[in-house]
Amino acid sequence: MPKMEKNRHAWWKEAVIYQVYPKSFYDSNNDGIGDIQGIIAKLPYLQELGITMIWVSPFYQSPMADNGYDIADYYAVNPDFGDMQDVENLIACAKEHGIQVMIDLVINHTSDEHPWFTQALAQPQSKYRDYYIFKPAINDAPPNNWRSIFGGSAWEKVAGEACYYLHTFHRKQPDLNWENPALREEIYAMITWWLEKGIAGFRVDAITFIKKDQDYGSLPADGIDGLVSIKWKSRNRPGIEVFLNELKERTFQRFGCVTVGEAPGVPLADYGQFIGPQGYFDMIFDFHAADIDVENGSEWFRRRDWTVKEFKQALFASQQAFIASGWGTTFIENHDQPRALSKLIRDPVFQNETGAKALAAMYFFMHGTPFIYQGQELGMKNFNRTRIEQFDDISSIDNYHRALTEGFTSAQALEFINQRSRDNSRTPFPWAKTINGGFNSGAQPWLEFTHRDFEINAEEQRHRSDSVFHFYQRLIQLRNLEYPEVLIYGNFSPLETHSDDIVAYARHTDNQRLISITNMSNTPLSYVIPVGEVLLNNYDSIDSNLKPYQTIIIKECVTNEQV
Ligand code: NOJ
Repeated sequence: MPKMEKNRHAWWKEAVIYQVYPKSFYDSNNDGIGDIQGIIAKLPYLQELGITMIWVSPFYQSPMADNGYDIADYYAVNPDFGDMQDVENLIACAKEHGIQVMIDLVINHTSDEHPWFTQALAQPQSKYRDYYIFKPAINDAPPNNWRSIFGGSAWEKVAGEACYYLHTFHRKQPDLNWENPALREEIYAMITWWLEKGIAGFRVDAITFIKKDQDYGSLPADGIDGLVSIKWKSRNRPGIEVFLNELKERTFQRFGCVTVGEAPGVPLADYGQFIGPQGYFDMIFDFHAADIDVENGSEWFRRRDWTVKEFKQALFASQQAFIASGWGTTFIENHDQPRALSKLIRDPVFQNETGAKALAAMYFFMHGTPFIYQGQELGMKNFNRTRIEQFDDISSIDNYHRALTEGFTSAQALEFINQRSRDNSRTPFPWAKTINGGFNSGAQPWLEFTHRDFEINAEEQRHRSDSVFHFYQRLIQLRNLEYPEVLIYGNFSPLETHSDDIVAYARHTDNQRLISITNMSNTPLSYVIPVGEVLLNNYDSIDSNLKPYQTIIIKECVTNEQV
């Protein structure tokens, strides 16, 4: 059924999407690794929270160099997670709980253990050679000076040959050659296969990297390693529109599925190409606000002393770009980000339930489909690791060494990765104050917990009405059940505030106006609270001043001039 995709109303605009990182969600067979059966077991919890769709990070066959974003077989499930029958059961059981399933689509690269790649190496004359990007060595050195996203040269030498293959990410993630039509056909067949299984859609990984500048030229170095970030030559480059249009037409469009592109590097002014009436995707993720604490959103040692004013500007600029072009996403966490509570609440005193609720009400009602990352609904925080050996994530290990190379001490390097490590959000989910936090029944988990006291846990929060969990539940009820016309489809207007530290906006229709006001600082700030019904408040009362990190959602008494 072709989708009425750019109609004002659409089912995927009404979704609230919860991201599951399967390795860390729930370990049903007690082997230390979360699994698909574990997700099925926790569907009642997700239904209770009120979400309507899950996005499951990769569960495909994989050597797990990048925790599943390195796929060795698109048609098979990693045995650590279960099997294809489990996935089919997940889709069916989720449906019974009113939940749809979105999966991750990783098509910029595969694992180096994918048979296409092993064939490409074993038989250079085979058709698989051209599924990847091989280039001759130049004077025994890599073809150019591009630095991979996970550090070091983006080129890996092929053993026994005077050539290299390209990997935008880890060396175990060789890039696919999208210039090759035969490769593209394989990808479209695979996507069709998954859509026929009944998944609701895809979160499309690293999709702005599929087109490389065909000159494969070097650029001036941007680090003391003599390399330059690959993104300048391989991210959102001219010509990508041909691939993205074809991808949409041959797959997504035929099924009316939902698509969310991970699209870093797209200028706001170009959002229309991605999410406009003829856009490649239904929505994209925008990282300007999420990456406010690091320069260019990349190397973690390039930290920024950001202000709330800048954060707000980034947030609202992205909102305006979404609105001008189509539909957006709103999120504060994912599996690549540290915990928002630790990143965005600068005063540690308020890295508590008050702060978690402030962030929740601040982002949730913006224009777009909201995403919640597992554990965010409990107000989880970052850990504080003391040794590099405690980290699993390849990007954390790379960033640690890059920081040392750039002249930082090991203590400084460790601090950078504690603040930014992707492991922060990948720790096992704390279900209860019991053995291993109820993640499993006692086996050593694949990654250390955030805190071993399990003070923050789902069981406790489900039974306490003023918990962060219940706050999120209420946000979802307000958006989806009580005020959908205004909170999903209504206009969005940033509100002027005397203080730069207040984030305030209105969602409004002809006859309703809801206001979200959040003090993003640790000091009381004056704000004239509009007269109306208070729908949510993370404090017990409202004074003449907004209290530190106070957030309020108000349904304003409207006059005709206001709307
Ligand atoms: C983006 C994913 O979110 C991240 O986890 C992964 O490492 C890279 N893409 C490479 O697939």
